[in-house]
Amino acid sequence: MEYILYEQKGSYAILTINREKALNALNSTVLEELDQTLDNVDLSVVRCLILTGAGQKSFVAGADIGEMSTLTKAEGQAFGKKGNDVFRKLETFPIPVIAAVNGFALGGGCEISMSCDIRICSDNAVFGQPEVGLGITPGFGGTQRLARLVGAGMAKQMIYTARNIKADEALRIGLVNAVYPQEELMAAAEKMAAGIAKNAPIAVRNCKKAINEGLDLDMDQAVALEEKLFGDCFETQDQKYGMAFFLDKNKEKVKEPFQNR
Ligand code: CAA
Repeated sequence: MEYILYEQKGSYAILTINREKALNALNSTVLEELDQTLDNVDLSVVRCLILTGAGQKSFVAGADIGEMSTLTKAEGQAFGKKGNDVFRKLETFPIPVIAAVNGFALGGGCEISMSCDIRICSDNAVFGQPEVGLGITPGFGGTQRLARLVGAGMAKQMIYTARNIKADEALRIGLVNAVYPQEELMAAAEKMAAGIAKNAPIAVRNCKKAINEGLDLDMDQAVALEEKLFGDCFETQDQKYGMAFFLDKNKEKVKEPFQNR
């Protein structure tokens, strides 16, 4: 891979967009490699992913403006679809994905972070959707996911004004869950990933599905979906073990890792 680094660390893995010279901007090759990398994650072992950008300055500075500058209408639409398809793959990826936003998250960078389950960032992070200043709309899901995450009013303000916001404001509006000093960000992301990875994997996957899919349903259908996914956890080895461990009075025993079965 030219632009993606993938490091598996036991039960979680770190996926790094590695195009530091262009502040990790997303060109077609980056998008294709990201797609392939996701296809190759060993889901029998990996239970959580961390997505970050190479270097100390930028997470992802957006879609590649040079590549987009000469596109026709049809090519622009196809480029939007290319980004949307891979971001949707990330959003619906069976295991949780944490965006560790280590600097600029602009345009496609803000958008890819919003396709992840959880966003945490460094204190130098900058978020924004600057597209209207370039003569385009956000094209990798920004008009949809930002409004869903921070509300339509704030999303419209950010998108129409193209004003970037710093980490503290991103925290205030709920775009990120936490802000860390730059040097502590990855340790915090890895601690969170390891914490997720030690929980029952089938249950965690079902929670992701229930939350993501339930948000698109009315409440009656949403709770029915939850019932189904809740029920599906029963009779798994991990459910039997997890509950038996809790009920066991001999608390001297060490809890064994869940088996993903
Ligand atoms: N596309 C292509 N190249 C980019 C890029 C991008 N989105 N962002 C940065 N780069 C390149 C720069 O061209 C520069 O390359 P050279 O060294 O070859 O000149 C290199 O990265 C370093 O960038 P700067 O010199 O500009 O660094 P800076 O510290 O002065 O500024 C910045 C940093 C504020 C992030 C600035 O680079 C910037 O504004 N980048 C563009 C951000 C942007 O508008 N993103 C949205 C793109 S549109 C989009 O994403 C559409 C969509 O929704 C799909």
